[in-house]
Amino acid sequence: MVQIQYLGHAAFAVQVDSTHLLIDPFLSGNPQTPVRVDAVLADYILVTHGHSDHLGDTEEIAGRTGAVVISNSEICHWLQKKGIQTSAQHLGGGRRYPFGYLKMTFALHGSPLPDDSYGGNPGGFLLRSNDGKKLYFAGDTGLFGDMRLIGEKGLDFAAIPIGDTYTMGPDDALRAVKLLNPCVVVPMHYDTFESIEQDVHAWSVRVMAETAVKVMVMQPGDKFKL
Ligand code: NI
Ligand code: MN
Repeated sequence: MVQIQYLGHAAFAVQVDSTHLLIDPFLSGNPQTPVRVDAVLADYILVTHGHSDHLGDTEEIAGRTGAVVISNSEICHWLQKKGIQTSAQHLGGGRRYPFGYLKMTFALHGSPLPDDSYGGNPGGFLLRSNDGKKLYFAGDTGLFGDMRLIGEKGLDFAAIPIGDTYTMGPDDALRAVKLLNPCVVVPMHYDTFESIEQDVHAWSVRVMAETAVKVMVMQPGDKFKL
């Protein structure tokens, strides 16, 4: 069983059987989010890169819950020094966990940490759950042609940014959908700030006109089972 809840911006809560994953938990700074930092469940926290709208409340949540943070080795090392448990990976590398097999993917972006420490390379995550569901969380990224490789083996779900300015905008995100060809695509990383405001409904109409991919526009708090 895989259940995905959108927490606003680029944050998701993913439940795989009885394991709770949080992805890019930017919660206290995001007025749209439906969950509280001091109550959200987490066994693992997946962090795509060091920007504060992704690293978010990782330190506080991991400190309270004892969750293991999965990220690149630079971000893991930075968190370890603060007493957080981590599991370091790097781009292209996968690792088996109780909830499935998780690979870190390439992203075309930056990754400084909040204190301007070097945060390594930014990434995304490709998860294959134990029951064979394949989920891709692109993280913050521009369009890149190797999305075709990520989609090649089939994707049940993909979450991709559409906000423009810092990541792909609507035009490139449409091209990304064509490369990834998932069963369902969820747009993210838009409307949180004025600089990433987009007409998500116009985008979903375009995607559905030009591809066979189902667009699911999730409101913060919405849940969906794969
Ligand atoms: Ni970023
Ligand atoms: Mn961002």
